[in-house]
Amino acid sequence: MDWDAFFKLHADLPREGPGAPDDVDWALGQAGLTASAVICDAGSGPGGDVAALLAHGAQVVAVDTHAPFIDTLNTRFADDPRVTGLAGDMAALADLPQAPFDAIWCAGALYFFGVQAGLTLFRPALKPRGVVAFSYPCWFVDAPSQAAQDFWQGFDGVRPPDQIRAETQAAGFQLLADRPVADAGWEAYFQPLEARIAALRPDADAAMSAVLDENMAEIDTWRQVRDQTGYHLVVARLA
Ligand SMILES: C[S@@+](CC[C@H](N)C(=O)[O-])C[C@H]1O[C@@H](n2cnc3c(N)ncnc32)[C@H](O)[C@@H]1O
Repeated sequence: MDWDAFFKLHADLPREGPGAPDDVDWALGQAGLTASAVICDAGSGPGGDVAALLAHGAQVVAVDTHAPFIDTLNTRFADDPRVTGLAGDMAALADLPQAPFDAIWCAGALYFFGVQAGLTLFRPALKPRGVVAFSYPCWFVDAPSQAAQDFWQGFDGVRPPDQIRAETQAAGFQLLADRPVADAGWEAYFQPLEARIAALRPDADAAMSAVLDENMAEIDTWRQVRDQTGYHLVVARLA
């Protein structure tokens, strides 16, 4: 992977993974947060979920290791004092001055650690009875096709919903609710990406062409296998 080409393709997209405002509203609606809640958006990307998160609390602290995404997020919300974007590691959220949080939202980023390991890292960054809501790669069928397996490009952490729920509980959380991320959430990510692929295509050099092909293949494959695999959205409270 040519990372310069990858990040040129992914610069200035509205979001970097599947999800829609309805996912945030549904998940944090289960949490019953107070109006003064401080919410962490862990692995926020460029802040595609921040506006929806603001409807559920008083402050959003967004954390992502990729500093240009945080720059984009801070530019987007420059006029909103309720939003703070920080370049940093979501493995160390408890070290932030804004911690502990009432809730941690983690869309499409927990797979970097795995469910149980990731939630165990989040625990000290939550207030007692704090809430975590996350989406995680999931099989929707018992025997996914080869194409569905290939969609994840060698990532071996995709789980069935039962196992995602079990690992959430094993990390010391009480399940509140769970459901799949709807296709609309995937299209909210893929359609702007598809438009950017088309815009970059005419002037793409060999490295960029390879990245454009790879990303377009990912979009096409998801559209073929979306009934077999996707993300599962889980809401849980610190037990
Ligand atoms: C698939 S993207 C999802 C971004 C965003 N949540 C969204 O839905 O648009 C995963 C994000 O996790 C970030 N990330 C990966 N490892 C991280 C870590 N250890 N700490 C913070 N962010 C991380 C990546 O930089 C990337 O922006």
